[in-house]
Amino acid sequence: MRRIAVTTAGGDAPGMNACLRAVVRSAIYYGLEVVGFEEGYWGLIKDKKRRMDLRSVSGIISWGGTILRTRRCEEIKTKKGIEQAVAVLKKNRISGLITIGGDGAFRGGIELYQASKIPLVGIPASIDNDIYGTEDTVGFDTAVNTALASIQKIRDTAFSHERIFIIEVMGRERGFIALAVGLACGAEIILLPEIKYSLTKITQELEKGKKSGKKSSIIVMAEGAGASYAIAHQIKDVTGYEVRVSVIGYVQRGGSPTARSVNLANLFGHQAVKVLTRTKRAKMVGWQGGRVVVLPLEYSARHRKEIDRNLYRLAQILAI
Ligand code: F6P
Repeated sequence: MRRIAVTTAGGDAPGMNACLRAVVRSAIYYGLEVVGFEEGYWGLIKDKKRRMDLRSVSGIISWGGTILRTRRCEEIKTKKGIEQAVAVLKKNRISGLITIGGDGAFRGGIELYQASKIPLVGIPASIDNDIYGTEDTVGFDTAVNTALASIQKIRDTAFSHERIFIIEVMGRERGFIALAVGLACGAEIILLPEIKYSLTKITQELEKGKKSGKKSSIIVMAEGAGASYAIAHQIKDVTGYEVRVSVIGYVQRGGSPTARSVNLANLFGHQAVKVLTRTKRAKMVGWQGGRVVVLPLEYSARHRKEIDRNLYRLAQILAI
């Protein structure tokens, strides 16, 4: 293996740059050349690339975002798009590809490998932490801490005005961010797409809290769990309590990565290069039971990662 390529695909996540740095430096350490495809699979299809050397990744370890930029690419889901991408890989004599991204990037990676048989390793980097095969993804810890920092500020005004706040966090159709944030901020209620809830149950919990002397309450809600403003109106109509909504939004996607996100990126980036020099197949790296693991990439597409309901139950117990 002489020349490998790397790309960051799909939604960006804090720590992607640390990943790029770990991939490029490890590859050069093991005597490989590295090409970076810009703007994810779209740039791969368009052959938008740059040579990566030790200085290309200097000083970026603590930067949010990705220096290669990224975009969501519908073309990679088409036969024509895959053929174009494979042709670009072959034209550039790429003998291994590392794709850094979320479940969309992984699904594209599986198609690319099946069409090209060019060895490929996926590095799980997404704030959603919804990838099967890994307990943690690059960027998740940072997104959770970013949301937490906002909620700690909202708690002050919620207390001062004795209000209920619904805090909407990202996560697409999944509740991993909301569960981690809800537990870490001591939310009274956590609403997840994976767990059914009713307005009656919500208002009963809030009234129980009021009766036990709570001045304010925080409801952390995953964006995929429903319409936060509509629920706010319904709670006000039923209880008469003052309810406000705060949507944390895209701040969760940016900012300097935490040490946890950076060190996961360091470990994953280095391991991905080592795996790529040894494998003929499509693999992913992941974090399980306190260590880096290597799995077939298609595992991530074939299985659904489940929410830890014990954590959800714990959050309920601690909110009394
Ligand atoms: O996958 C990461 C994520 O931030 C999700 O949490 C969110 O639902 C989605 O991307 C937003 O997508 P876009 O960046 O295309 O607006």
